[in-house]
Amino acid sequence: MGRLSGKVALITGAGMGMGKTEAILFAQEGAKVIVTDINEEAGLDTVKKIEKVGHKAEFMKLDVRNELEWQQVMKSTLEKHGKLDVLVNNAGILLLKPLEETSEEEWKHVFQVNVMGVFFGCKHAVEGMKKADGGSIINIASAYGIIGAPNAAAYEASKGAVRALTKAAASDLAKYKIRVNSVHPGLIDTPMTQDTIKDPEKTKELLATTIMEHPGKPEEVALPVLMLASDESSYMTGSELIIDGGYTAR
Ligand SMILES: NC(=O)c1ccc[n+]([C@@H]2O[C@H](COP(=O)([O-])OP(=O)(O)OC[C@H]3O[C@@H](n4cnc5c(N)ncnc54)[C@H](O)[C@@H]3O)[C@@H](O)[C@H]2O)c1
Repeated sequence: MGRLSGKVALITGAGMGMGKTEAILFAQEGAKVIVTDINEEAGLDTVKKIEKVGHKAEFMKLDVRNELEWQQVMKSTLEKHGKLDVLVNNAGILLLKPLEETSEEEWKHVFQVNVMGVFFGCKHAVEGMKKADGGSIINIASAYGIIGAPNAAAYEASKGAVRALTKAAASDLAKYKIRVNSVHPGLIDTPMTQDTIKDPEKTKELLATTIMEHPGKPEEVALPVLMLASDESSYMTGSELIIDGGYTAR
């Protein structure tokens, strides 16, 4: 308890899956959490869950593709809290399609959410983090941003871009004492992967090359993300944390 005491943390896509788990964990660890999501109902449910366990949080609607909404959310955050210490760029979408069947529109959509959203987040976090005299940005990429696998070209390219963008942002933002790291989960049991996990053939294929042979739980990603958000990772920047049960290890 208290690993994020006094910190203001904003999480994107915190209405479901890993973002939701991180929001609850961060609140339990003493952070003032700003839950954001494109889906208002889901975001409000996260706030309800946080309040149920005796902590406070607030919801702000944020479509990460929209720079104006980023500006408004950051303005409200600074008006209410005066600073921003932690940003988790978690919102993302998955497209499972072979490269040759992927349309220009689909490719752009994946990049707008997964890459443009992270770029806007890093850019607009700077003002609030300067006010906090530093901060930690965690960009949720994927094991699929490190290796290639069939049927996910747009997604993998987008997560590879997040990996490189993280290192660029770490270099540019160090002068403001802002650390930027990427996280690379393997197959994690969330709403995003329900169809895959329910399909025994697909799961078998993915887990055949995973050393631990089972999907991860959202908590198993949220805890390392908490470490990156906290001062425990004070000498980490530009690094990539792989949380994939050994999927990329062989
Ligand atoms: N689940 C996995 O196996 C896995 C593996 C590797 C990486 N990831 C990445 O982890 C992150 C979280 O994944 P998850 O499995 O929890 O996903 P999820 O689909 O369960 O939840 C994603 C959340 O993001 C929100 N969202 C979608 N588009 C948005 C937008 N434009 N603006 C704001 N919010 C938006 C959704 O409403 C939802 O609440 C994603 O970036 C994903 O690519 C997931």
